[in-house]
This record gives sequence, structure tokens and C-alpha cells, in this order.
Amino acid sequence: MTARLIDGKAIAARLREHVASRVAALGFSPGLAVVQVGDDPASSVYVRTKDRAAQQAGLRASSLRLPAGTTQRDLLATIETLNRDDGVDGILVQLPLPSGLSPHAVIEAIDPAKDVDGFHPLNVGLLTEGRPILAPCTPRGVMHLLDTMNVPISGARAIVVGRSSIVGRPMASLLLAADATVTIAHSRTRDLAAECRRADIVVAAVGRPGMITGDWIKPGATVIDVGINRLADGRLTGDVDFESCAAVAGAITPVPGGVGPMTVACLLENTVTAAIRRRG
Ligand code: GUN
Repeated sequence: MTARLIDGKAIAARLREHVASRVAALGFSPGLAVVQVGDDPASSVYVRTKDRAAQQAGLRASSLRLPAGTTQRDLLATIETLNRDDGVDGILVQLPLPSGLSPHAVIEAIDPAKDVDGFHPLNVGLLTEGRPILAPCTPRGVMHLLDTMNVPISGARAIVVGRSSIVGRPMASLLLAADATVTIAHSRTRDLAAECRRADIVVAAVGRPGMITGDWIKPGATVIDVGINRLADGRLTGDVDFESCAAVAGAITPVPGGVGPMTVACLLENTVTAAIRRRG
């Protein structure tokens, strides 16, 4: 391996300590409400992790678990209650929702000032304009990793593989706001390997285990793996074939222990940002 390893676990731990010290200096404890509908096991793990991290940082975390059969009307009423609750600074509805519930309607019901996921169209619009306020947590986590590792972004060619609303699109907006020349690639992209080989920064967010291999990577490029795929034997693996890419890249994230821990740390940061802005 020639690449520098980007230790997301350590970088996230430092960010969480920084958030905790900001919270301690505030004189009040920002409130984060996490809503889960149903009992998808992966979502339950994420919600518990967010809850624990929030409490460790000195936030007031509350998680609401609604039954899988919750109607759209009841879910919207719950969100309305949280919107009106002055002690709640951040609201997060864990996705995916059970079928029959519209994620768009639910996200649009969240007060944009409390939208710590950065998914509300108002926050998406601000991000697209290049003035992010509450930007999605995973892409923000990636930007924090690049900053911490002193990866040059301005003027660099970056490719984001994947165009989801949660990762790909906001990732491209943040890279663009940092003056990268950005390509968004997706399932219809022609000669993806050649597109990747031109990039100084490759962000993989497609959900296909090991899809990106070392022969797609320009020597010295930075490779960020957002993929979290569970293999048949239970192991977690990314979208990047780590061994072959690490032999070529300049820096690379592992899975697990790369981007994953950053998402939660940035959620805490967004909650503090929302609280400070809301309470003046
Ligand atoms: N499901 C997977 N990632 C996310 C995320 O960042 N936020 C929410 N709310 N749900 C998710």
C-alpha cells in the first residue's frame, strides 16, 4: 500500500470533541429529535448510534419510534409537533421510510431551520447556490476529511460516482462550492473508468461492492469510499476495491472507519449550527 490512510474514526472523534466543547460553551443544550418509522434493523442501529453520540456531545437527544403502520397524516402531525416545540433545534427522520409514506412530503414538512439532514428543498437550493447553511451530513463529512488531510480541492478535477439526493448531488455541490471541477457520474455514464482516471478526487457512492478498481485511479489521486455494502458472509465492504486502489492512490478511506463515523459527527455539528441560528 502506498496511499495515506484517511482515518475517519479518529478524525470524527476529534470533531465530536470539538462539538462537545462548543456545546459546553453555549450555556444551553441543543435538542435533537430523531424519528424512526418501523423497525428496520439497519435503521435501528443508525438511530441508536446518533442518539448515543448526541448525548455524549451534551445535546438533548430524543428518539421517537413510530409503528411501521403509521399513516402519512400521523407522521406529518408528529413533525408539526416537533416544529412547534421550542426545545427541539434539529429534526431528523430516518430514511428509508416504509413503503406508502412519501419521503418528499415528510422532508418538506420539516421546518427548514430545524432540518439538520439538509434535505429540505430550501436547504438544497441554498447549497446549490453555493451558500450552504445546513448541508447533508455525509457529504459534509467527506469535505471535512479532505480538509483535514490537506487535499487540494480548488482547481482539482473531482468525480462523484452516484447521483442520490442524500450523497451524490449534495457532494457535487459542496465540491463545486470549494472550486473543484466536478463530474457527476451515474449508471448511464459512458466509459466510467476513463472518467475516473482523469480525476484527482474520486468519491464513490453507488452501493456496488468493489466496483471501483485500481486501474480506474490516477496515480496519487484521493479516493473516498462512501459505500457501505453488507456481503453474504456479514462483512461490510465499500464501493471501492481497497487493495488495488490503495496501491495507486495518494490517500484513501477504509470501510468501515472512513466516511461512516463522519456522518454522525457532522449531524451533531449541524444540530449546534441550527440551534445557534434559531436562538440568535
Ligand atoms: N438514511 C441513510 N442515510 C441517511 C441520512 O443521512 N439521513 C437520514 N435521515 N436517513 C438516512
